[in-house]
Amino acid sequence: MENLKAIILAAGEGTRMKSKIPKVLHKVMNKTMVERVIEAAQGVGANQVAVVVGHKAGMVKDAVKNEKVFFVLQEKQLGTGHAVIQAIDFIDDDKDIIILYGDTPLIKQETLKSLVEFHRSENNGVSIISAVVDDSAGYGHIIRDEKGNFIKNVEYKDATEEEKKVKEINTGIYCYKGSKLKEALGKLKNDNAQGEYYLPDTLEIILSAGNKVNAMNADDVTEFSGVNSRIQLSEAEAILKSRVNRMHMENGITIIDPAQTYIEDSVKIGCDTIIYPGCVLEGKTEIAEDCQIGPYTKLSNMKIGNGTKVQFSTAIDSQVGENTTVGPYAYIRPNSKIGNNIKVGDFVEVKNSVIGDGTKISHLTYIGDSDVGQNINFGCGTVTVNYDGKNKYRTVIEDNVFVGCNANLIAPVTLKNGSYVAAGSTITKDVPEKALAVARNRQTNLKGWTKK
Ligand code: UD1
Ligand code: CA
Repeated sequence: MENLKAIILAAGEGTRMKSKIPKVLHKVMNKTMVERVIEAAQGVGANQVAVVVGHKAGMVKDAVKNEKVFFVLQEKQLGTGHAVIQAIDFIDDDKDIIILYGDTPLIKQETLKSLVEFHRSENNGVSIISAVVDDSAGYGHIIRDEKGNFIKNVEYKDATEEEKKVKEINTGIYCYKGSKLKEALGKLKNDNAQGEYYLPDTLEIILSAGNKVNAMNADDVTEFSGVNSRIQLSEAEAILKSRVNRMHMENGITIIDPAQTYIEDSVKIGCDTIIYPGCVLEGKTEIAEDCQIGPYTKLSNMKIGNGTKVQFSTAIDSQVGENTTVGPYAYIRPNSKIGNNIKVGDFVEVKNSVIGDGTKISHLTYIGDSDVGQNINFGCGTVTVNYDGKNKYRTVIEDNVFVGCNANLIAPVTLKNGSYVAAGSTITKDVPEKALAVARNRQTNLKGWTKK
């Protein structure tokens, strides 16, 4: 959407968080609340965003890295209207302005889009998002006439007994015509129960200046819940988690136990993949189709190909190809590229290595800093010895090699195509093509030794 800007209020202290850091820098699903709100605004086309900061302003500024975000300081928190006045130079007469809050991280981009569409199609001076709730205490109440036309917002503390019974509340999110907002801010007063400059007083001001004002009723009230305490922070986390899980299920992904599944909103998952309980899927993770992930698996910034199974494992900053199995109890560390039709079995660790198609690393093996070819069989207990205490070296294993059980491969070393390493060997020299390397003492049996 064009000709749109947003102002985000984030100057409040948030004392109930009992925290050293400002409230809006607390994270919901691993992203600060204020960044979530900025992204929602920018996502709907309000590329330029002004954030009104006050309490610990410097920390908020430092934490938000976004070229199109401007900071405006509100030294004393004299009310939501006063906060917007601080950003008055940011408001363009011919653009629409959305007002949002740094501590309301669950607002959806689609809802903001509907608000702007409603605002523009009705040609309102200002449009409000309202919601009908059971307990309206504490909120601003939307007062309408008998025909249902908007008359005003009244804050709970200023409301009459009759007005307090109204169930339609102001969510605090608005879309204004820039010129109308500017005019109304100039007329705000603070003669109310809290002695504050109330932003919602602009609604009545804009109406009485002869403009249309109306409220759009929201269906999902969870979007507007503000976070004021650690308990509400955990509630916001739970709402977002369930929203993300539902979205995946709607897209054709099976989640066996959503309550025990944590998927960050940045993760992509393909159709017919099944997520078993106890999974944590983070960051830029992309899982393709027909995969089975879990139980009890953590994937962070992972790319997983079609038909791959990962169970009881942790994998970070790496790629796994198609029809590969990982785990149980495998650990894939950063910068690994594991191909197709591979088995990475139990108690196997892979770090900074490439593994070619068809290779089997079935059990108890460490592959670090290695270039591993195709169709290799690793016996149980193979170790690439990559570190001499000072430097790291690479191990190169060409295609079709067989590494016997309990072998140490002391890097730098190369096992050439089709070579064979005898079980229990400690390999320090390159092994030629198709050769058998035996690097251990021959067994001697001392007859009758135990009798002596
Ligand atoms: C506000 C609305 C109320 C609405 C409710 C929805 C006003 C006067 N009331 O009430 O109609 O139902 O939101 O949640 O607007 N802030 C500043 N600077 C200030 C004051 C506030 O940045 O000087 C920020 C706060 O950090 C907070 C937000 O604005 O994030 C809302 O302020 P608050 O005073 O909590 O308003 P509510 O009482 O929630
Ligand atoms: Ca207040």
